[in-house]
Amino acid sequence: GSTTFVVAVDGPAGSGKSSVSKAAAAALGYAYLDSGACYRALAWSLLERGVDLEDPSAAIEAQKTFDLDIGTEPDDYFVRVGAIDVTEAIREPRVTNAVRHISKVPEVRAGLTALFRRIIRATPNPGIVVEGRDITTVVAADAPVRILLTASEEARMARRSKELTDQSAAVVGEQLRSRDQADSRVVDFMNAADGVLTLDSTELDFDQTVHAVVEIVHTQTARISHGR
Ligand code: CDP
Ligand code: CDP
Repeated sequence: GSTTFVVAVDGPAGSGKSSVSKAAAAALGYAYLDSGACYRALAWSLLERGVDLEDPSAAIEAQKTFDLDIGTEPDDYFVRVGAIDVTEAIREPRVTNAVRHISKVPEVRAGLTALFRRIIRATPNPGIVVEGRDITTVVAADAPVRILLTASEEARMARRSKELTDQSAAVVGEQLRSRDQADSRVVDFMNAADGVLTLDSTELDFDQTVHAVVEIVHTQTARISHGR
């Protein structure tokens, strides 16, 4: 609803944004929005339609009929385009490599940002954790809690290559680096904007990171309810 408490989380690939945000949302009884999945789903639908990814006007055109349905309950996460469940398909390397072509198009970003804000407004939960690259600076720049989740490049690569057992660490590392480089040319998620709290998870395990996010939210909600 209109008073939904927004927790904005940004960070580079492999920082733990998605998994940590989802678990923190579950612990808080909040909804969860994976903005990156929406960028991925749009890229998936362009690949599916066989349109030229290098042509921004094709992406803008396709977005007009982009029929996305994303689950925002942390324990019922799914991504659908039309009637097709793409939850798994949007993680394929061909999609990961395609996203950068559309995420650099300003009109595409504006359209998805409007969609994210509609989803935030429509959530029935008392709060929502929204994660991505430009949530703390654009999508929900006025959120009462804004966190930049970081981790050393080494830690992020180790986490990613553990997930993708069929690829060598060197390949994963190179892909991660090149995607972060392309992405950070569009939005700066490597440095915390004014008022954004940096949470470095390099030395934290998964549970500790989730706990830290929940603590930050509790501290902030207590402060607000005391009018400070
Ligand atoms: O989980 P991972 O860090 O691999 O990426 P993601 O969050 O699923 O996002 C996939 C891609 O979508 C990123 O590489 C960005 O190009 C784009 N993205 C964006 O531009 N803005 C966002 N708020 C979220 C994702
Ligand atoms: O969404 P993003 O690319 O930022 O990261 P993710 O897909 O949520 O997390 C990548 C992996 O790192 C997951 O397997 C997490 O369980 C793991 N992780 C970790 O080992 N330690 C942390 N402190 C945070 C995440």
